[in-house]
Amino acid sequence: MKLEPEQEGMLKGENGRIMAKAMETVVKYGEAFGAKKLVPIKSGHLAGTFGIGPYGAYIHILRQMAGEGLKVRVPTTVNPRPGYDLNFLNRHIVFTKQKPLEELLSAIGVTPNYSCVCYEKANVPSFGDRLAWAESSAVQFANSVLGARTNRNSILMDVCCSITGFTPEFGYLLDEHRHAQMFVRLNIKKMDAPALGYLLGKKVVDKVPIIEHYPFSRIELKNMGGSMAASGGVALFHVEGLTPEALDIKSVLDGFPKVTITVTQEDLDNLRLRKPEIADMVVFGCPQMTCAEALAIGEKFKGKKVRVPTWFCMVPDELREFKGHELYGRILDAGITISEYCPLAAFSMRLGNKHILTPSGKLLYYLKGADYGTEDDCLKACGVMA
Ligand code: F3S
Repeated sequence: MKLEPEQEGMLKGENGRIMAKAMETVVKYGEAFGAKKLVPIKSGHLAGTFGIGPYGAYIHILRQMAGEGLKVRVPTTVNPRPGYDLNFLNRHIVFTKQKPLEELLSAIGVTPNYSCVCYEKANVPSFGDRLAWAESSAVQFANSVLGARTNRNSILMDVCCSITGFTPEFGYLLDEHRHAQMFVRLNIKKMDAPALGYLLGKKVVDKVPIIEHYPFSRIELKNMGGSMAASGGVALFHVEGLTPEALDIKSVLDGFPKVTITVTQEDLDNLRLRKPEIADMVVFGCPQMTCAEALAIGEKFKGKKVRVPTWFCMVPDELREFKGHELYGRILDAGITISEYCPLAAFSMRLGNKHILTPSGKLLYYLKGADYGTEDDCLKACGVMA
């Protein structure tokens, strides 16, 4: 790999031993994927925010970075907190390293936004920006909806890129890997974006799909993308005539698509739990909810009481905004718990066999004991919709 003089100097230790290690890690990462050079990044987003025992080595490396006084060289945000104080198990057994981890993230200059939906306020990329983000849902939104360019980086690689300010140029940073390889036809009467995302992840795996035109809202794109990036390794999708690189279908698709897949209403419906009323708990917000989302769903709870524990997991910034709305108090009156945590981490360890219903394809994929329901199914399970 050809390095610029500044990068060469960092590698040789001109900025200290730990910076040299971070640069060596980034260079080796690039070499493994055939990158010819490193490019400067506009921002970073880190996924390692769970203070769990297996993160001992990760925490040790952060401590070394902080010990040498290293700071991130670009604005860098982080994923949600894990619900470390929700119950006895989380507090005393699972997330015992939460405090030291957060202190170290702060010491290296990371923005304490604590959300996977960093792209709405805390860390907003522009079209064409090169980034080094982790967190599959955020990576996918940045690539697909904002037209920025990032690979799906791992925990620690994300830190090394932010500390050095560089990432290897390969994969989704290059034009040739941003073309669509599959065309997705929709034969759907009632859109259910997270279910569509979940099914596409399974079918597309790690290819780039272009979905036939549908006027998805920003919230639907967020929730569809989060599901697709979990059930598959999809880091980039296009929607014909909607997402910024696919305004003209020819610009992302060379000629006719070699593969066309069709998703039907029946496919979407088959994902749903047949009897939503058996749920013991309902969880909204994976990826975390924005204020607009909480306002839209929250309307359905006005003047009602939930039948089962119901959670809204929200972006901290967006929750602050939501608190300024009259609806916030009405939601609490309805019995909803509002949290800033990642529901996957918060509810992975739980006592008893609680049956969780969620409109998130990502939780369906990762959370043991979770079932999928459309938003209406979840509202029925909460007892606020007939
Ligand atoms: Fe975000 Fe946690 Fe879901 S990081 S996408 S809320 S699993």
